Amino acid sequence: MSPQIFAHRGASGIYAEHTRAAFLQALADGADGVECDVHLTRDEQLVCIHDPTLERTSNGSGDVADHTLAQLRELDFSSWKGVPVPAEYGGPRNQLLTLADLLRLLRSAGRSIALAIELKHPSPFGLRLEAELVAFLLDEGWDPESSTLGNLTISFMSFNPDSMHQLGEIAPAHALCQLVADVEPDEVREALSFGSITSGAVVNLMRRAIDEGEALIDAHTVGMAGPGVAYVRAHQDIVRRWVSEGVRVRVWTVNTQEEAELVAGLGVQEITTDYPAEMRSFFAIS
Ligand code: G3P
Ligand code: CA
Repeated sequence: MSPQIFAHRGASGIYAEHTRAAFLQALADGADGVECDVHLTRDEQLVCIHDPTLERTSNGSGDVADHTLAQLRELDFSSWKGVPVPAEYGGPRNQLLTLADLLRLLRSAGRSIALAIELKHPSPFGLRLEAELVAFLLDEGWDPESSTLGNLTISFMSFNPDSMHQLGEIAPAHALCQLVADVEPDEVREALSFGSITSGAVVNLMRRAIDEGEALIDAHTVGMAGPGVAYVRAHQDIVRRWVSEGVRVRVWTVNTQEEAELVAGLGVQEITTDYPAEMRSFFAIS
């Protein structure tokens, strides 16, 4: 059985991540779902951006949380990728999406779409991020029992176990995906060295995402586990056990044939990829 395919930050291998173009391309590529990261702006609007800062993916600078939505709308979130955005995808401007924009875009897809929302922590707003998201979704007509909104099935992901607890007050366990930090050998886990991540707060969160995160998954407090590929490679026994215990496993970010073969062999039910079209063809022929 082929896994469900989520476009990671949209079809971010093709167009700039989280842009209108990336999400429209994901729909055109036949992705089953899309993944998007959310932050709050200074005026508490939910925006689809990965980093807490603006430098990497826009021509702006500073923290997302220090800008109003109107200020962010002035920025260019697509040119950094160096790929021209076709006019039918909105041109180079008009590429930043609020979560409300993304819902509109997905609701017009004319088919069922799974939307995986990642709550980005550490957030300067703390767990107000969760509260604002829930309030927003309820206002949009989200049904907390089924976690659906029209043609959308919505799930929530975070590395932060507190986020899962908070969302679990209203959302069903089957809609909660605890992300597990992508660390490879146990030595790395012990040394708390996570690539370029140096901030103490982030390192602490990643440690909690492994220890408390695994515990939440094992206790079925959340119905989904979201390990990274390197974690899966290093802990295949754990992933196999989760699958056999009925936990839905959503692995990020599966971009190569070798990674696809690894997760397919373990019976993983969902993958997140920057290249949904390629992954669809891989799983169609394997
Ligand atoms: O799908 C989960 C994955 O997106 C987590 O890592 O850094 O890509 O948000 P990141
Ligand atoms: Ca993410």
